[in-house]
Amino acid sequence: MDALRHTFEQQLAAALPGVDITLERPRSGELGDLAFPCFRAAKQLGKNPAQLAQELAGAVCIEGAALVPAGPYLNLKLTPAARAGAVLGALLTAPAAQPYGSRPATGRKVIVEYSSPNIAKLFTIGHLRSTMIGHALAQVNQFLGHEVIRLNHLGDWGTQFGTLLAAYTRWAQDGNANLEADFDWAEPAPDKRRTPLFRLFQLYVRFHAEEEADPAMRDEARGWFRRLEEGDAEARRLWAWFREISLREFQRIYDRLGVAFDTLAQGEAFYEDRLVPTMDRLAAAGLLVEGDKGARIINLEDVGITTPCLVQKGDGTSIYATRDLAAALYRQEAYAFDRCLYVVGTDQVLHFQQIFAVLAKLDPWFQGRMLHTPFGMVKLPEGKMSTRKGNVIFLEDVLDEARERVAAIIQEKNPDLADKEAVAELLGMGAVVFFDAMNDRVKPITFTWDRVIALDGDTGPYVQYAHARILSVLRKAGEGWAAQAQPGSAQGPCLPFAPLSLPADLGGLAAPEAQALLFELAGLPVAIAGAAEANMATPLARQLVTLARTFSGYYTNCPILAPENTPEVREARLALCVATARALRQGLHLMGIQAPEEM
Ligand code: ARG
Repeated sequence: MDALRHTFEQQLAAALPGVDITLERPRSGELGDLAFPCFRAAKQLGKNPAQLAQELAGAVCIEGAALVPAGPYLNLKLTPAARAGAVLGALLTAPAAQPYGSRPATGRKVIVEYSSPNIAKLFTIGHLRSTMIGHALAQVNQFLGHEVIRLNHLGDWGTQFGTLLAAYTRWAQDGNANLEADFDWAEPAPDKRRTPLFRLFQLYVRFHAEEEADPAMRDEARGWFRRLEEGDAEARRLWAWFREISLREFQRIYDRLGVAFDTLAQGEAFYEDRLVPTMDRLAAAGLLVEGDKGARIINLEDVGITTPCLVQKGDGTSIYATRDLAAALYRQEAYAFDRCLYVVGTDQVLHFQQIFAVLAKLDPWFQGRMLHTPFGMVKLPEGKMSTRKGNVIFLEDVLDEARERVAAIIQEKNPDLADKEAVAELLGMGAVVFFDAMNDRVKPITFTWDRVIALDGDTGPYVQYAHARILSVLRKAGEGWAAQAQPGSAQGPCLPFAPLSLPADLGGLAAPEAQALLFELAGLPVAIAGAAEANMATPLARQLVTLARTFSGYYTNCPILAPENTPEVREARLALCVATARALRQGLHLMGIQAPEEM
């Protein structure tokens, strides 16, 4: 396809000297494989676009393709045999190390910072967004040849630790929350609600509830945070222990989600030693201004941001922004990155505008490298979730519930399935993760069980089902066909499939449904590149649904194992099945979703 695109572009460029050639993908495979919109060129030449399309059709000539003017577009449409050869060839003969749609190394370094939960709070459904959007962006960028560094800016520092320390020292010894004594690390907690992390969370919620009536408690919390920043031994010991408890639970969730980071050691606390040098640098650059009550701020009005960036409180303690500045400076030094993506909610848009503006003032190197990719909050039908108030939906509950609902469906429809539990887990996860990806990144999502768990329509299980159905056809075909859809073990974002040679006769793929499927397979690399460009998995998720749906048309209309098929027809159709299974599995893998072979 790349070669075809190149030839088409070259011929158009020769016919239209001085005109910028940008090709598109037609809406459907019936129109063609590539489209040249003539509007801009026509304007430049003072012609009517439809007339220009007509003229160009006569001027361009490509073997195996027809040039079809369609209104203001010039479409290039491959003959059925040429399309089958081009798409199947690209898919099946791709070397294992360079899967279909992936790109060779670019030498560019991309940091993706995602998930970044706050220590001592539980993972909620809200954290799924940052975690899975970030995971998909990391996967896709790496697939497209960039070197990706996966970072997690753990919230392991900040005033909330003052609150926790105050709450813990107040109540944790009163018998009902003696966290240390009550938990045996070697044993899994008998009830997931009885983990130390959950108790810490309860303490946190209780503190905020009681603090309303007793404002002195606020000073108590502030006092503890100051002790922590000053290195007080007791405060440090408890802090380290809260962190440990939290990381164990987070790690369990990351393992379940199949998400991994280059390091979990670069949370907010990691930058503690760098806060003073960062403040010094800001001062040396003449950026620091005295704000209210001795606070230090940076004015950004000159760059159109009316709210100044607060970098130090009046009591001398650091804040979130200071640590982000220190982190960016550290990353510049440690990674010399080309791009740094921050996958963080829309509620922090101003924060990142401020941080990026301050960085650009400090060093123009940062300009154009920093990108906040915000995502909409998850809301409950009754309003915004709030950890402080305790009205949240925990991610693990969602994953468990999804698994259970799927398990009930399997029990009803396919009770003899091997490994029912494991399949239910993969499908439940697929449902939840895919639901998230199908939602536009920046729009808020209202969480309702019915929408998340729905197993029909544009869902993960629908795509997973298409994959499993293909595998079932391949198993029936025998002769080692199923093995062709089996990848070696994943190498990061790439599923290594052994290259296969293309069947000699592709005549069995001339039917419109087979051609439509080939067209959508050709759309997969476009969707992957689109996901990287839009910084969200949505274009990829949509293409996978389209592929699954198109496969269904192919399956119904082009009998694959019918006894009357000639061996050539059978082979060509099976090869298209293998290609589709590979594409679906690779696409899901980029999103962090696994595809079971049977369901
Ligand atoms: N821990 C923060 C939160 O839960 C998100 C951190 C985002 N990353 C950053 N570099 N500020 O809201």
